[in-house]
Amino acid sequence: MANSGFENGSFEKQVVLVTGAASGIGKASAELIANRGGKVICLDVNKAGLDEVVAKIKSSSGSAVAKVLDISKQDDVFKCVNEILKEFGTIDALVNCAGLPGPTADFVEDIKWPDYERVLAINLYGAIWLTQAVLPTMKVKKYGRIVQVASIAGKEGNPKMAPYNTSKSGLIGFVKGVAKENAQNGITINALAPAVIATPINVNTADEMMKYMISRIPMGRLGEPNEVAEIIAFMASKACSFTTGFTFDISGGRATY
Ligand SMILES: NC(=O)c1ccc[n+]([C@@H]2O[C@H](COP(=O)([O-])OP(=O)(O)OC[C@H]3O[C@@H](n4cnc5c(N)ncnc54)[C@H](O)[C@@H]3O)[C@@H](O)[C@H]2O)c1
Repeated sequence: MANSGFENGSFEKQVVLVTGAASGIGKASAELIANRGGKVICLDVNKAGLDEVVAKIKSSSGSAVAKVLDISKQDDVFKCVNEILKEFGTIDALVNCAGLPGPTADFVEDIKWPDYERVLAINLYGAIWLTQAVLPTMKVKKYGRIVQVASIAGKEGNPKMAPYNTSKSGLIGFVKGVAKENAQNGITINALAPAVIATPINVNTADEMMKYMISRIPMGRLGEPNEVAEIIAFMASKACSFTTGFTFDISGGRATY
């Protein structure tokens, strides 16, 4: 058979978990990975959205299943990952896109603690628990890819978004150290720092904040979910074999470091 040159970017015979798969970046990533041959386990709190994305993948002859999971519930995360392992036998990659912005127009001293904590529980603790849950099986088979979707906010900090900044910058630090722990286990763990992308996450973002974020992007436009999915698919594939602990950029030129 002719060598297509794409073997390392293929997900044939791989089981890939995608959280936040019901919408935006997670949905686009689930569709692309399924399109490249992966069996995609779509995880989200939004059941209707999950059913829609799984139906779309199946209608293009891809392989996907939906499982409702709230990643801010520690026990549920471990239970869900164990069930997936029992059902599908393996996990090759985790793509964690589930997240929420929390307050976008409040000074830090005005933010009520439950609102602060909720953002940390989903964006940071959920990411940690998912990583803890998938690592043991990846270590045994000496292969794994973990992609954590962070944000430019975790590198630069957006004013009046303290919980989000804290969660995403915590996530970037988490990835750096855990990647080094696993550097000789055949597992790569990387973060991604998108600037503002056209997804439903921004519907309630304050106008002033949207203008600020777009004004910081040299390309002068929002990114599209399918553009983000391309870099995620690379990070989750065999092709991403010599980069770990890194925070990839997708920011239209905002971050050149
Ligand atoms: N869109 C942007 O501008 C942008 C920029 C930088 C980073 N990000 C990050 O990208 C990721 C994806 O965001 P998006 O833009 O696709 O947003 P989105 O709102 O379209 O999708 C987020 C998904 O996460 C799910 N989710 C939320 N809480 C959950 C929970 N507790 N458990 C399971 N699922 C949960 C939602 O139901 C939703 O389907 C997020 O982590 C976000 O912080 C987005």
